[in-house]
Amino acid sequence: MATWSNFNLQNSASPLMEQIIFFHDHTLVILIMITILVGYLMMNLFFNKYINRFLLEGQMIELIWTIIPTITLIFIALPSLRLLYLLDELNNPLITLKSIGHQWYWSYEYSDFNNVEFDSYMINYNQSNINSFRLLDVDNRIILPMNNQIRVMVTATDVIHSWTVPSLGVKIDANPGRLNQINLFINRPGIFFGQCSEICGANHSFMPIMIESISIKNFINWINNYS
Ligand code: CUA
Repeated sequence: MATWSNFNLQNSASPLMEQIIFFHDHTLVILIMITILVGYLMMNLFFNKYINRFLLEGQMIELIWTIIPTITLIFIALPSLRLLYLLDELNNPLITLKSIGHQWYWSYEYSDFNNVEFDSYMINYNQSNINSFRLLDVDNRIILPMNNQIRVMVTATDVIHSWTVPSLGVKIDANPGRLNQINLFINRPGIFFGQCSEICGANHSFMPIMIESISIKNFINWINNYS
C-alpha cells in the first residue's frame, strides 16, 4: 500500500505490474539520457562565441538528427505496444469478479458461486478502530485466490467511477450502461488497496478498494461458508 511520501510506484503483486514497472524504468532511462544530452548541448550553445555567417543548410546533420530520434522512439513504442496487448490478454480465468461502482461505494458479485454478492463501504477510522487502515479500509473485503487468473467485469450504476488497484496494475473505468473487462493475477498473499480514480462526486475519495489475497484452499473455504 502507499504510505507517506512515497515517490516511486508501489511494489508489484502481479506479473503484469512487474512488466509495467520495468517499462517505466526503461523509458525513464531513455528520458534521462535525452535530457542530459540536450541540456549539455544547450549549455554549450549559450556559452560560446562561435558564429557562422554562411550557414544555410546541413543535409547530413539534419539526416542524423531525424533518424536518431526515430530509432529512439521505436525503442519506446515497441515495448509499450507489447505491454498494451499483454494487459488485455485473458486466458482461462478461474473465477470472475463483478465490480459495480456506486456513489459512493463498490459492490461485488461472485456469480460463479451461488451468487455471492455484497456492498463494500469504507469504514470510519476512530479510537475504537485504531488498527484499521485510515481512508482505505472497508467493511467487506474482496477475497481472491492468489496464483490464479481472475477476470474482473466492471460497470457502474450512476456516474463514471474507476476501479484502480496500483499494485496489481489494474485501472479500468466503470461506466453506467457498459461492461468493461480486465484480468489480474495476484502472485502473493496479502492485502492490496485501490481507490476510485474518476472524479465521481462529493465522496469520490472515500470509496476504497480492498483486496485480500489468500490461498485457493482458504478461498474455497471462504466461499463455502459464505452466508
Ligand atoms: Cu467513484 Cu471517484
